[in-house]
Amino acid sequence: MSERVIPLIDQRLKARAAVVPTTPIAATGLLGDALGRPLRDLRISVTDRCNFRCSYCMPKSIFDKDYPYLPHSALLSFEEITRIARQFVAHGVQKIRLTGGEPLLRKNIEILIEQLAALRTTEGRPLDITLTTNGSLLERKARDLKAAGLRRVTVSLDGLDDAVFRAMNDVDFPVADVLRGIEAAREAGLGPVKINMVVKRGTNEHEILPMARHFKGTGAVLRFIEYMDVGATNGWRMDEVMPSAEVVRHIHQELPLVQLEPSAPGETAERWGYADGSGEIGVISSVTQAFCRDCNRARLSTEGKLYLCLFATQGHDLKPLVRGGASDAELASAIAAIWQGRDDRYSELRASMPPDQSTGGRRIEMSYIGG
Ligand code: GTP
Ligand code: 5AD
Ligand code: SF4
Ligand code: SF4
Repeated sequence: MSERVIPLIDQRLKARAAVVPTTPIAATGLLGDALGRPLRDLRISVTDRCNFRCSYCMPKSIFDKDYPYLPHSALLSFEEITRIARQFVAHGVQKIRLTGGEPLLRKNIEILIEQLAALRTTEGRPLDITLTTNGSLLERKARDLKAAGLRRVTVSLDGLDDAVFRAMNDVDFPVADVLRGIEAAREAGLGPVKINMVVKRGTNEHEILPMARHFKGTGAVLRFIEYMDVGATNGWRMDEVMPSAEVVRHIHQELPLVQLEPSAPGETAERWGYADGSGEIGVISSVTQAFCRDCNRARLSTEGKLYLCLFATQGHDLKPLVRGGASDAELASAIAAIWQGRDDRYSELRASMPPDQSTGGRRIEMSYIGG
């Protein structure tokens, strides 16, 4: 019998153990990386599993029933996650996003949210705690999430047409259930709800206008995301990317738009408002207009590896420190040393390379590290 090839494993294991620097680095909330970028946003993946099989993220051919997901023993406990998060907050983090896979599949996620909600920024303020979900379990969970201290949610939704949506999630999941989840989130006070639509030319660009019409005036913020060359399994091609400028032009023809000021430094989305004042949309142009210059995002995997870029080929393993008796000050120092060495700016570099070519090395998967 021929052996099954699992292309992701090696790259997933590729991480160097984080080390405590000989000279301690105190947490002052003012940490900067090698390009002077602060640390503000921590994205924590709480599971590498998902109940959808979006072809651009977890294609069925690879993520089948035999796929070796992380064993339970490899996952950080909620206490370990919170302890790590506390050190990040001491270095200046103000926003925490829980991701997956699908984060609502992690059992008792509300308990983690409660623990994170108790943390305070260096200025003594509560954190902006949010979560990215496919919405499939949101109707059931929205109220408990809010009660646990979640501030808001972002729901991934790539189309309104039921047939298109069922095909894109590739598990025949009906769009109506996600729409009920979005409504439940709004009712629970998890707003403003953001809706993330990855636009893939030839697959769902005809859903742009129906989506804009549907969410206009509802208070939800719809964001259009350029399909990215993230990971190594989605068969990305430049001709399937629809540039955000084209998306904006397309919507503007029917629903006039005006550009808005950014609401925070380093944010991913460029904001556009409807000229009639009925809300806003966003475009996230990581392929055609890289936004690495102000990137203040760190990513922590389910098993405790720190990644400095969505396109990283190597992580920094914090678990040996967490499980090996390091003190909080040592853990904070180790995180600081890693961030100070950070010079990642993949999307900017990619923009100067020939089309359909990218830097070497096997990149992490979105399902492993979250969005
Ligand atoms: P808000 O605080 O709600 O505005 O969230 P956000 O836009 O910072 O985060 P979200 O996870 O909603 O980001 C939306 C999408 O942008 C993700 O799903 C990714 O596709 C993309 N994205 C987010 N962060 C980065 C990043 O650092 N680099 C790149 N290239 N793309 C990113
Ligand atoms: N390109 C752009 N965004 C992606 N996401 C996943 N894969 C990609 C990709 N190849 C984003 C989507 C999804 C979130 C979890 O990650 O926004 O909603
Ligand atoms: Fe799951 Fe989101 Fe990936 Fe789709 S994009 S497979 S919903 S993690
Ligand atoms: Fe940040 Fe890397 Fe994305 Fe650039 S490509 S914005 S450095 S995560």
